[in-house]
Amino acid sequence: MSVAPAPLDDAPERRDWEPGPGWVVLVTGGARGITAEVAQRLARPGVQLVLVGRAEIAEGDAADDGSDVEALRRGAIAAMRSAGREPLPAAIEAEIRGKLQARQRRATLDALRRRGAAVEYHALDVRDGERLGELIAGVYRRFGRLDAVVHGAGVIEDQLLADKRADSFDRVFDTKADSTFVLGQLLRPDGLRWCVLFSSISGRFGNRGQSDYAAANEVMSHLAAQLDARWPGTRVVSIGWGPWREVGMAGEGVLRRLAAQGIVPVDVEAGCRFLFDELSRGSKGDVLVVAGEGPWRRGDGAAGAAPVAGEGAASAAGQEAASAAGQGAAPVAGQGAAQAAE
Ligand SMILES: NC(=O)c1ccc[n+]([C@@H]2O[C@H](COP(=O)([O-])OP(=O)(O)OC[C@H]3O[C@@H](n4cnc5c(N)ncnc54)[C@H](OP(=O)(O)O)[C@@H]3O)[C@@H](O)[C@H]2O)c1
Repeated sequence: MSVAPAPLDDAPERRDWEPGPGWVVLVTGGARGITAEVAQRLARPGVQLVLVGRAEIAEGDAADDGSDVEALRRGAIAAMRSAGREPLPAAIEAEIRGKLQARQRRATLDALRRRGAAVEYHALDVRDGERLGELIAGVYRRFGRLDAVVHGAGVIEDQLLADKRADSFDRVFDTKADSTFVLGQLLRPDGLRWCVLFSSISGRFGNRGQSDYAAANEVMSHLAAQLDARWPGTRVVSIGWGPWREVGMAGEGVLRRLAAQGIVPVDVEAGCRFLFDELSRGSKGDVLVVAGEGPWRRGDGAAGAAPVAGEGAASAAGQEAASAAGQGAAPVAGQGAAQAAE
């Protein structure tokens, strides 16, 4: 695979991708992480957002959160002791993580409503095709339309393949691949303006300990290619994100490891702008867009691994573009944008 510049600078800017009054937008994974950041920038008066996540949200119940991580730690230790459980470090960390995530979900919903959007949140596992299908059918029944989709639900459970349990592989793979398949079956292209799938550079280039995740992301990108070809009036694009800084699933340790490979984390504002530039100036048919600064821009291979299997097949996915959304690199379309050719 070689990488060549493909700036979006000269592309005319369209506004018709922007949610406006009456729009209904489905956002899986939208209550937390990087998808929540995007959801907040899509929220505006008159827009109906339909969010999906696994966890139930106890709205308005912030009383047990404490004010900071240390307060949460003290609270977790006290609660475990009073329940007769030994406060083991891993259990304490899990408890703190759970509380912070709960807080983030509630904060996202509050922020979306403050921006004037109508918001509903559905706690369901997107691997459950029946429930996901019921949700989508319900959206069409109740609102009569679905204008845009951001599919951000995803998990990682990094482990070398030799050590992987089948159920772990399935969780990671199915969360993205099965759910995208269901979306492809049940979304109605009439009226659907765009559908963005949140993929990862791991799908295109591989990453240590992420065979399941890489496979899922690459399958998702191929499904994007299929759907984009099948739905002439809808832009379907898979964004192969590089790691984001400060929000989402890429922790400090991961960022450090990737930095050693020349991969620059994506800043929140830059990432969101990258996505919206792609929607406003990108072209239908560009079905996989790599977002972030890394070795792929030099065309010298992988983010820690050999290019994933199926390179040949991937070229059938249509055009692919790699652009800069990392810190330091201006993320706007055209700034160092590159197109991959195989
Ligand atoms: N952050 C990055 O650096 C990065 C880089 C490349 C690609 N991506 C992709 O971007 C997407 C969002 O990542 P993130 O970093 O924001 O992740 P995150 O912070 O871990 O959030 C994941 C979101 O997905 C939801 N989710 C996970 N499994 C689900 C399931 N089975 N059913 C329904 N919802 C589910 C979670 O819901 P709960 O709140 O209920 O757990 C949460 O809202 C993922 O697809 C990821 O692969 C992220």
